[in-house]
Amino acid sequence: MRRVIVDPEKPDGQVIFEAAEALRRGELVAFPTETVYGLGASALDADAVDRIYAAKGRPSYNPLIVHLAGAADAASVVASWPHTADALARRFWPGPLTMVLPKRGTVPNAVTAGLPSVGIRVPRHPVAQALLVAAGIPVAAPSANKSMQVSPTTGAHVEKSLTDVDGLILDGGHTPVGIESTVIDLTTEPPTLLRPGTISLPEIERVIGPLQVANASGGDEARRSPGMLDKHYAPRASVVLADAHDVGIRLEQARTATDRAGAIIIRADVQPGQAIIRLPADARAYAARLYSTLHALDDSGCAVIVIERVPEDPEWFGVRDRLERAAR
Ligand code: TXA
Ligand code: MG
Repeated sequence: MRRVIVDPEKPDGQVIFEAAEALRRGELVAFPTETVYGLGASALDADAVDRIYAAKGRPSYNPLIVHLAGAADAASVVASWPHTADALARRFWPGPLTMVLPKRGTVPNAVTAGLPSVGIRVPRHPVAQALLVAAGIPVAAPSANKSMQVSPTTGAHVEKSLTDVDGLILDGGHTPVGIESTVIDLTTEPPTLLRPGTISLPEIERVIGPLQVANASGGDEARRSPGMLDKHYAPRASVVLADAHDVGIRLEQARTATDRAGAIIIRADVQPGQAIIRLPADARAYAARLYSTLHALDDSGCAVIVIERVPEDPEWFGVRDRLERAAR
């Protein structure tokens, strides 16, 4: 892909115009959102959407999220707008929240993997906003990485993962949130949390009342959101989760098996070293750095990464979900 540097706060109008034109022609454009980089294509063009699946090597059963410039654009892709959607949009959009709603016939089946529902989100990153406004069309965009890999939080991560793909990367540097959006299915009663993110369960329940939580290990909810079962979000290295007081011993064990062991710690008392990275004890600050740390440890050749378990509190739910998947 061709990577163009853009100012993350005030992207160049000419670059945005050209990227928007490319999207309207059915081409692929990777762009930063506040969560991770997305690999975008026109959500109204089935051939363009097929190019996303081909570029990522993504299984066709895994539906895509449609990105909109504003909540008013939802009417072009969803068949209903319940009061729960309206309340969540007012509270959290633009921002890292995806809502699953009944889809309209205008959305090609390729976008939703044949499901009768569509996931929609209004991102708040200025580059994503500018691109969506300029394109004037809904943009389907999964994370801009090969299927099963750690999502990209920099333009360089996208370039590294999608080397063989034709298209443009708008490189706005590091994405601020760092893990994927919270996904809520509003077609169930009560609504279902399909994927935790940095907007926590209690924050959402304060707006729309109690939710059910999809069980990642199987069952009906998992079948409703097929991609959720995949072991993605995983680095190349194998991941071992350990309590703070076990990190040292786990690291020693890993080092007897390989000379390339790394660790991600919060509080653990271990000797600092080259591949031992301490992340903040605050959930949002940790999330913002998690994927770039996994990319960096992978790139430094680690075969094993020992990761200190994170707290059980609700604000850590999104991070904990990604770590458990990475360790699977
Ligand atoms: O933060 C994000 O959400 C990023 C940025 C680029 O917006 N996108 C992202 O997309 O993480 P992706 O494709 O990696 O994950 C989208 C997930 C799918 O795996 C699927 O499980 C769920 O959202 N999803 C999408 N549409 C759905 C639908 N109609 N029903 C149930 N789940 C859906
Ligand atoms: Mg993904």
